[in-house]
Amino acid sequence: MKIIEVSDYKQMSVKASQHVIAKIRNSDCLTLGLATGGTPKGLYGELIEDHHVNGTSYKCVNTFNLDEYIGLSKEDPNSYYQYMCSNLFSHIDIPLSQTHIPSGMADDAAEECRRYENMIEDAGGIDLQILGIGENGHIGFNEPGTSFQSATHIVDLTESTREANARYFESLDEVPRQAITMGISSIMKSREILLLVSGESKREAMQKLMENDVTENFPASILKKHPKVTIIADSAALDLK
Ligand code: GLP
Repeated sequence: MKIIEVSDYKQMSVKASQHVIAKIRNSDCLTLGLATGGTPKGLYGELIEDHHVNGTSYKCVNTFNLDEYIGLSKEDPNSYYQYMCSNLFSHIDIPLSQTHIPSGMADDAAEECRRYENMIEDAGGIDLQILGIGENGHIGFNEPGTSFQSATHIVDLTESTREANARYFESLDEVPRQAITMGISSIMKSREILLLVSGESKREAMQKLMENDVTENFPASILKKHPKVTIIADSAALDLK
């Protein structure tokens, strides 16, 4: 794992955007894996600005998001579909048909997981996966204890994850209890991974990631086994003064 230290959230976002933009500009066709949450918002903002200023085009980019809440429709303001539209897709020239997010409203969620995993494979896999990290080390919605062999699957969200995400909802009660997430093996199949870590609340997770052994009790630890991972972390997450 290569670790790039940056001063703050803005610099993390800028650095990450440079990495993503270079990849897009250097490939005929790129498949990006995308994350939600607070962490990548700044990155998406930088990509939008670059699209407007420098004209980087997304017409040949395909995207696959990591996860979606079960029970939230595409129209729900808290769905990750809405998040992606308002934070990225509506502001760049990507055809929506080239963007993919698991459906949280599928009649058969298990079938939706299989469909999603197959779709990623049929697209030739993910070239560059953007990741954030949960305070408990989750990646996507893969909570501690998730099998490293897992493909896209249904998860029961832990109370700590629901509480951490409650800030986007009216109340904790409204936070869904389940989600569909790419599995650990789906994430590990990506040819390259960019993990973004910012803020004091992620310091403990960052420390565990650097110091702990690879264990299913700390899902992000699997990244140590991936051949091409870059972590862009700010000084608050790294405890540098
Ligand atoms: C959520 C998402 C993850 C994200 C994590 C951290 O639960 N499913 O993909 O990385 O939380 O979120 P944040 O970036 O808001 O700290």
